[in-house]
Amino acid sequence: MNSNILLKASKLNTRIFYKDSVVNAVCDLDLELREKEILAIIGESGCGKTMSMLSLTNLLPQSAKITEGQILFNGKDIEMDNEDQLRKIRGAQISYVFQDATASLNPLFSVGEQIREMFITHEKIPSAESKNKVLEVLESVNLKPAEKYYSYYPHQLSGGMNQRAMIAMAIASKPKLLIADEPTSSLDRITEMQILNLLRDLNKKMNLSIIFITHNISIIENFADRIVIMYAGRIIEKGDAKEILRNPKHPYTKALLKCLPKKENKDKFLNTIEGNVADLSDLPDGCKFNPRCPYVMDVCLKEEPEFKKVSEGHFTKCYLE
Ligand SMILES: Nc1ncnc2c1ncn2[C@@H]1O[C@H](COP(=O)(O)OP(=O)(O)OP(=O)(O)O)[C@@H](O)[C@H]1O
Ligand code: SF4
Ligand SMILES: [Mg+2]
Repeated sequence: MNSNILLKASKLNTRIFYKDSVVNAVCDLDLELREKEILAIIGESGCGKTMSMLSLTNLLPQSAKITEGQILFNGKDIEMDNEDQLRKIRGAQISYVFQDATASLNPLFSVGEQIREMFITHEKIPSAESKNKVLEVLESVNLKPAEKYYSYYPHQLSGGMNQRAMIAMAIASKPKLLIADEPTSSLDRITEMQILNLLRDLNKKMNLSIIFITHNISIIENFADRIVIMYAGRIIEKGDAKEILRNPKHPYTKALLKCLPKKENKDKFLNTIEGNVADLSDLPDGCKFNPRCPYVMDVCLKEEPEFKKVSEGHFTKCYLE
């Protein structure tokens, strides 16, 4: 395996077993992440972004199961039924930050005590040394002066500050990979940009690889190195961020970009994508985007397209290419 690749998921499939139906939430996901890279995963609500990322360390809800696929992390197979191995990887090597930081923190303990507990329990750092470790990590996420924020409770902090505290907790064990699942979607624009800058800073200083999930393509231009676009549980386009933003190939990616507000259109209605968000329990044959695609052809109704190479590192699943 290329030593530059930190994570490689191949043909990953995750199904959700409901009482009277089964849904393919993640379908044949092929994903690569290089060391020190920031990868953004973009797609509409319900397209399987969270399920794919939870699948990487089998953190899935009870009703969901990985039915096929392989995941290599740092050159080693992640065995999905090896709970011992998974426990060592989660948090320590791959950690997560989710959207609602305030709800994820325990309201009964100060931010510092919560991070300290993590150092003592998971990192086995002696209690006497742990406070200094917490102060260091609070500084690294710009919660300064760290002594002050150590004793603050979550309700005393703003949403953005709580998200910084969650990020502090997630990076405390110096993981190789941080998966940030819509960490900024409940924050105002300025705070959102501050969190993106913080993540970029941590990416550089700690050589931290980041997978950043968002449904907002407008925020990743100067942030992500590469982009993956998902639709209906599948990756439909992937490649270098600048290349995809400049030269999108899949009609869904083009439609997403058209929906971005532009200065010259400020008096017009915003564009939207025609049709309904894909319903994973009732997908069409062929290309899953066909009910909404303005370029649909006969072949699109019959068979799902395979990935085609557009240019070095840029791939898309569409018969037009
Ligand atoms: N805890 C759960 N139990 C059962 N099904 C779930 C659960 N969470 C998500 N799903 C289903 O899995 C599918 C993929 O959902 P997922 O949460 O991965 O989408 P998403 O792209 O992350 O959406 P969003 O942008 O809204 O977070 C959807 O059909 C969703 O209804
Ligand atoms: S494969 Fe066909 S339906 Fe699907 S996006 Fe391409 S043109 Fe549209
Ligand atoms: Mg999600």
